[in-house]
Amino acid sequence: MREPVIIFRNIHKSYPLYHHVTGGIKNFLFHFKKSVSGLQKRSYESLRNISFEVYAGEAFGIVGANGAGKSTTLGLIAGVLKPTMGSICVKGRVSSLLELGAGFHPELTGRENIFLNGVLMGLGKRQVRGKLDQIIEFSELGNFIDQPIRVYSSGMLARLGFSVVAHLDPEILLIDEIMAVGDIEFQKKCAGKMMEFKRKGVTMVFVSHSAGDIERICDRVMWIEDHTIKMLGPTGYVLDSMLNRKLATSSGGL
Ligand SMILES: Nc1ncnc2c1ncn2[C@@H]1O[C@H](COP(=O)(O)OP(=O)(O)O)[C@@H](O)[C@H]1O
Ligand SMILES: [Mg+2]
Repeated sequence: MREPVIIFRNIHKSYPLYHHVTGGIKNFLFHFKKSVSGLQKRSYESLRNISFEVYAGEAFGIVGANGAGKSTTLGLIAGVLKPTMGSICVKGRVSSLLELGAGFHPELTGRENIFLNGVLMGLGKRQVRGKLDQIIEFSELGNFIDQPIRVYSSGMLARLGFSVVAHLDPEILLIDEIMAVGDIEFQKKCAGKMMEFKRKGVTMVFVSHSAGDIERICDRVMWIEDHTIKMLGPTGYVLDSMLNRKLATSSGGL
């Protein structure tokens, strides 16, 4: 029996909505209580009623337009965001690459950041040292590894970030759009590493704009549209539906 290692039940995530005071500041102050409660009630819904499960060893893709809620979903799995409503259960050690440079310190060198991240992920210094050569080699950063990472390009940051999470023995790996940054050769290398993880039975949740990568790597895909699940199923089926929809809207829209 396959065991679910990520369980989302009726997840909602809202952010407070900040906006300009309309009707003038006098009016605002005069009706202070009402105005403030009006402001507090306003919120922006990033995710609405999201329920799904990811099974141990599964490669699970998330697709959808910009702003749909993909990164928010990953942030909730990683535990860096909290849901407004609903329950989330994640079983296993999570390694995540959510944003470029997240978890890195700009003044530290690439090498020092590898240590920092390793320790943050719960490894001992000696364990990180044991993996250091592999991480540096995979990143292909050469001498830049001893430069502070504030001088890195976004492609270099992506190399370092991916190399770190890929070598710290994750049980659950979360990757957000990272393959889109950097050169084609490195993207291919990342995809290769992800296939290797898949063979090893690491659970992966993967957000990408590249239908090709999703198709190659993922077993199932969740399509988010307008902050809620539009479709969830086998990769081919969901990607075909998205493609058909795009064709239909582009011909219908002209
Ligand atoms: N910290 C935040 N504060 C307010 N709104 C946010 C915040 N983060 C994301 N959002 C909003 O939530 C929605 C979903 O964002 P996101 O998950 O980043 O989308 P995606 O990754 O699919 O492009 C977007 O409309 C975005 O503007
Ligand atoms: Mg995003």
